[in-house]
Amino acid sequence: MPDNIVLVGFMGSGKSTCGRILAADLGWKFIDTDELIAAEAGMPVKEIFARHSEVYFRALEQETVARTVTFSRTVIATGGGVVLSPVNVQHLRQGNKVVWLQVDLATALARTRTTEERPLLQGQKPADIARLWRHRQKYYQFADLWLNTATMSPDEVAAAIKEALKQWLAELK
Ligand code: S3P
Repeated sequence: MPDNIVLVGFMGSGKSTCGRILAADLGWKFIDTDELIAAEAGMPVKEIFARHSEVYFRALEQETVARTVTFSRTVIATGGGVVLSPVNVQHLRQGNKVVWLQVDLATALARTRTTEERPLLQGQKPADIARLWRHRQKYYQFADLWLNTATMSPDEVAAAIKEALKQWLAELK
C-alpha cells in the first residue's frame, strides 16, 4: 500500500479539487501543502511572496513537504512549483504514489484567470505564462501516473486515481 497519494501539476490542474474528492472517496485525510503553509505562516501564499520572497516560500514549502510525506493514508495536493526542488521530488516519491494532473496551457489559463491568489501569474502576459508552463512540463514527468485532466471532470479524475490505486495494491500482493 502506498503511504500517500501525491498530486502534482501546473497551476489550475485541479490538484486541490480532485484531491479533496479522492480523499473523501477513499476515507483518507486530505492535505493541501499551500493551505498548510498559509495557515502556519498566518498569511496567504501571495502575501508570503510579497512580504518575504519566493525563496522564503520555497523554504517553507520544502519543510512542509518533508513533514507531510511522513503521514499515511493521506491525499497530498502540492503547489505547482514543488517539483522544482530535487529534495522535494525525492521526498514525494518515497513510499508514495505520485499522480501528475496534466493540463494544457489554454485550460490552465482559463482556470486561473479569475483568481488573484497566484503570485507567479499576477500581472504576467500570456506569453510569459506559456514559457513557465513549457519549462515546467519536464519536472512533472517522474510521476507514476499521468492523467490528462482537460477532458475529465474532477469526479472522473478522482475515479481514475482510485482505479490506479487498486492496481498498485494488486501489484503489491
Ligand atoms: C506555485 C503554485 C501555487 C503556489 C505558489 C507557487 C508555482 O500553487 O504554490 O503560488 O510555482 O507553480 P497551485 O499550483 O496550487 O496554484
